[in-house]
Amino acid sequence: MSGKHLTALAALALTLAASPAAFGVEIAVTCDTGPNGHLCNEAARAWAEKTGNTVRIVAAPQSTSEQLGLYQQFLTSKSGDIDVFRVDVIWPGILGSHFIDLKPYVDQATIDQHFPNIIQGLTRDGQLLALPWYTDAGLLYYRQDLLDKYKLKVPATWAELTETAKAIQEGERKDGNDRFFGFVFQGRAYEGLTCNALEWIASFGGGSIVGPDGKITVNNPQAAKALDLAASWVGTITPDGVLNYIEEDARGVFQSGNAAFMRNWPYAYGLAEAADSPIKGKVGAAPLPKGDGEGARNAATLGGWQVAVSKYSAHPKEAADLALYLTGRDEQKRRALKAGLAPTIMALYDDPEIQQARPFFKLTRTLLDGAVARPSAVTGEHYNEVSTLFWNAVHSTLSKNGDAATNLAQLQKELNRISRGGRW
Ligand code: GLC
Repeated sequence: MSGKHLTALAALALTLAASPAAFGVEIAVTCDTGPNGHLCNEAARAWAEKTGNTVRIVAAPQSTSEQLGLYQQFLTSKSGDIDVFRVDVIWPGILGSHFIDLKPYVDQATIDQHFPNIIQGLTRDGQLLALPWYTDAGLLYYRQDLLDKYKLKVPATWAELTETAKAIQEGERKDGNDRFFGFVFQGRAYEGLTCNALEWIASFGGGSIVGPDGKITVNNPQAAKALDLAASWVGTITPDGVLNYIEEDARGVFQSGNAAFMRNWPYAYGLAEAADSPIKGKVGAAPLPKGDGEGARNAATLGGWQVAVSKYSAHPKEAADLALYLTGRDEQKRRALKAGLAPTIMALYDDPEIQQARPFFKLTRTLLDGAVARPSAVTGEHYNEVSTLFWNAVHSTLSKNGDAATNLAQLQKELNRISRGGRW
């Protein structure tokens, strides 16, 4: 072999050594752009380094409803451009037909580590359509320092919350903070409003929109009462701007010290307690308040995210391996420690390191046990239509565009029409 050829070969070898990925494949994965999005990016890169593959991170919009719209476009056109998707707990019925069965890639012991109800929700016709990544339940965040200042208690009912929020707001405004509000939540017309409103309605004993048998239950006096109360907050203890708030907008107001109470998911706790948080050391979290009347209870909507592999991926084996890595025990532990994201692996709640770093998980764990599921299983591929009609009816009510009874009666008609009388 000539010296020239040898040099060329040596150069090639060098390139390959410097870039192990040249032997691997490229996997495109969606990661969120929220405040904890970097954790997903870091994990995907760590997997690439470990396996010699490369990852391409696809930045997802923040709102879950916008993500769904985008992914539906990719998947219905059978595009292989994205291999691995983060999926919301309510999507398997809507998108499941586009995901591979992960069972051949995962052993039973790995599956059995997760909460069985989450696994059940991700299983269809015996196929496991996604692996659980972290779980969520709605919480009431409060400012302990302000409750102390005004000698008030954490509210146990929504009526008490209304009073307490009003008292603190008046006090803080008198003290010179004219941007202070009593209560912030997610009020934009999107999936997050469905989660908030389901909590209000379920806490008044008003059911969960559609019953497990498919019957439409949402048009009832307790549900109307809950929504009318929520409408009374907007413009009084809650800024009008809430009608356009998603999770991060509410957190922005609360974390900058401008709200007494906030409804949000567990992720907000870690951020409120972070070193640079203006409210560090002043925050508590409790179950969301009860409604009143028969059937009143504390209600938290069940949320959470999973990882699924597209049927149109050219590399299902590597994509499934990445899904397993992201949802595995080490990664769930890292996410719990770094960001307070609630694991779906049950044993991690007994892990001493996690218990020490995240005492708050005790509360999350109990809330998860009684959390209210959205009717995504029973409405299947219709769920997004159902939720859209529901959040629009709620948004109209919050905007004082018709009262709750009128808007719920109209909603029932529409839901009856798409389900042919509850036969989904
Ligand atoms: C959280 C929940 C998810 C829910 C979304 C609504 O991300 O985990 O299940 O759909 O909030 O905004």
